[in-house]
Amino acid sequence: MDDAIRADGLVKRYGDKAALDGVSFDVPRGSVCGLLGPNGAGKTTAVRILTTLTDADGGHAHVGGLDVAADPQSVRRIIGLAAQDATVDGVLTGRENLVMIGRLHHLPRGEATGRADELLEQFSLVDAGDRLVKTYSGGMRRRLDLAATLVARPEVLFLDEPTTGLDPRARNELWDVLDTLVAEGTTILLTTQYLEEADRLADDIVVIDHGRVIARGDAASLKRQVGGAQLALTVADPARRGDALRVLADVAGEDAHADGDGRTLRAPTGGGASAVAELARRLDADGVEVEDIGLTRPTLDDVFLTLTGAHIEQEDGDDDRR
Ligand SMILES: Nc1ncnc2c1ncn2[C@@H]1O[C@H](COP(=O)(O)OP(=O)(O)O)[C@@H](O)[C@H]1O
Ligand SMILES: [Mg+2]
Repeated sequence: MDDAIRADGLVKRYGDKAALDGVSFDVPRGSVCGLLGPNGAGKTTAVRILTTLTDADGGHAHVGGLDVAADPQSVRRIIGLAAQDATVDGVLTGRENLVMIGRLHHLPRGEATGRADELLEQFSLVDAGDRLVKTYSGGMRRRLDLAATLVARPEVLFLDEPTTGLDPRARNELWDVLDTLVAEGTTILLTTQYLEEADRLADDIVVIDHGRVIARGDAASLKRQVGGAQLALTVADPARRGDALRVLADVAGEDAHADGDGRTLRAPTGGGASAVAELARRLDADGVEVEDIGLTRPTLDDVFLTLTGAHIEQEDGDDDRR
């Protein structure tokens, strides 16, 4: 079979609560799957089952064609896992960490050292390689974590929230590193709470919430589920809102409406840039000043709102999601 990862009806219960309630998805070899969902959705639980760290209460999971329940040892040999909590040791240097992991994987010392050098280079950690890891920034530590998972050249890589807690610059650096892994053909399952991240990295996105898959597809197809582009404008003077709405309805039709803030008006459009130009011309002719005008396309957050009735950013409260 050509799926690197296959989950069939996975169930996991903690007491009378189902962390996973029948989760199925598959990840073709060489592709990147983004498991997207808010805090508590069941992402880490799914990763723990697929990486043999915990048993499912129901369903089946295969990684590299191997049954994770029947053959966990073989599965462990072909996977890498960057867990949500850092696994590298703070009182060793970056290089020592990588060499130690190589030795744990039974690489001869020379080979373990060579592989460590290679990875320090690939992850821009050459200068930091001989410093204690406890002196590293969050971004450097995350890159070292990722390097550590690659020592044994896994076929399938699991990344549990690889960029949570990183600042935007460190996040971008990590995304670039992940691009090179993808280009090398590694199959990756990454979990994320960030719409932008799934959109940026994943070929396919599986949206989960409360232990269930609520949607799947590529970013574009998920966005299509919420409908197309909208014309949007913000009036400079709230008193002219009625006039603006009339012009907008003229250009874009009956569905023109005001947003919550009252100054922003929207209408679905199939018209693209020419509709924006026409709208701008008509408003100008009527002397209605606008602060902003343009075309908006739905984000993955809009998708989540449509599917669940809740914004994906809504907090459960126990970590540092934006
Ligand atoms: N070891 C555990 N004991 C009890 N409940 C757990 C345990 N691990 C996870 N859960 C619960 O299962 C649900 C899913 O958790 P998790 O898989 O960690 O979600 P995510 O990684 O998407 O934030 C949550 O409600 C969480 O509280
Ligand atoms: Mg988690």
